[in-house]
Amino acid sequence: MLTDKFGRHINYLRLAVLDRCNLRCTYCMPENGLPWIRQNDLMTDEEMVRICSVFTSLGVDKIRITGGEPFVRKNCMGLMEKISHLDGLKDLSLTTNGILTAPYIPKLKEIGIQSVNLSLDTLDEERFFRITRRRSFDKVMKTLDRLLAHGIKVKINTVVMEHQNTEDIIPLVELTRELPVDVRFIEEMPFNGTHDAETVLKWDHPRIYSFIRSYFLDLVKTDAPKSSTSYHYKIPGFAGGIGIIAAFTRSFCGDCNRIRITPSGLLRTCLYSGDGINLKDEIRAGKTDEELKNTIINSIHHKPKDGWEAERQTLTPAQVHQSMATIGG
Ligand code: GTP
Ligand code: 5AD
Ligand code: SF4
Repeated sequence: MLTDKFGRHINYLRLAVLDRCNLRCTYCMPENGLPWIRQNDLMTDEEMVRICSVFTSLGVDKIRITGGEPFVRKNCMGLMEKISHLDGLKDLSLTTNGILTAPYIPKLKEIGIQSVNLSLDTLDEERFFRITRRRSFDKVMKTLDRLLAHGIKVKINTVVMEHQNTEDIIPLVELTRELPVDVRFIEEMPFNGTHDAETVLKWDHPRIYSFIRSYFLDLVKTDAPKSSTSYHYKIPGFAGGIGIIAAFTRSFCGDCNRIRITPSGLLRTCLYSGDGINLKDEIRAGKTDEELKNTIINSIHHKPKDGWEAERQTLTPAQVHQSMATIGG
């Protein structure tokens, strides 16, 4: 079991398989993209599988495949299939924007993916275009339908933004009346890949909560699993649930169980920490699995106590310049 010096057990690895994406969500990256990771710096499938197997041998039992958009990576499905066979892995899950996902759904089911987090900020085609700068709304809705038809649990991720999608909050809540989905409203974080440090959070957790409650007076709080990013709510009689992720205003650090690997192999022990050890470079330098294990154990030991507290008030321009697509959500 991986444990840091504050006694937190680390069992959840978020693996960003690619920084590139086929959307350009305004809160994530500029129209002309990011300074993409060069091909040679991207980990190969073999390197990713090897790193994951070292982590599972150290007690990591949950891996989330994220990005960028995972399916923009060549043969991402093959990569996920290999990861799914690792000993000790109990939960393999995926965060996707849903555009290329639909044809892979039977295969996702086959390799044991039980839950998919789907990014969807609006139910309106024109607003979808304004937010993502691409016309792919129908494809995402088709993916949502097919995931549910295949019995895969879906959590919809909606970043709430003033003047962009607040009209969608109630229709998205309404979606949970009949559909067994969780809709999670997320506070916008200042990781948008631009130099714009002016992200002023207009919709924080209490405001989102009060807004929903003003329409649904019977909204009730329900228990959230330990280490969940989300506060959970439910409207009695509705098939699905509501979540609010206070990504900007709340520290998840106290019972954080997660670490991240970027597409180029950087081990980030905290969302807010700078670049850590590069595990791909260690592999390419010929390190054995035992040596990799020791490097990982040592890095995790030094996982910051509360990266949020330390960094949130003092985000540097370099950090603001980062994108969730490079950090790995
Ligand atoms: P599950 O709990 O496994 O469903 O995953 P998740 O909710 O962490 O994953 P997802 O990829 O769907 O991310 C949802 C939102 O939570 C995104 O906006 C993430 O950026 C945010 N998030 C994920 N991890 C952290 C974290 O460690 N700190 C903060 N502040 N936000 C996070
Ligand atoms: N603030 C909050 N959430 C973000 N995501 C991407 N960029 C941001 C941001 N700046 C979310 C996406 C995706 C998840 C992995 O991260 O909506 O669902
Ligand atoms: Fe792509 Fe997700 Fe970033 Fe949107 S938020 S541009 S879907 S990586």
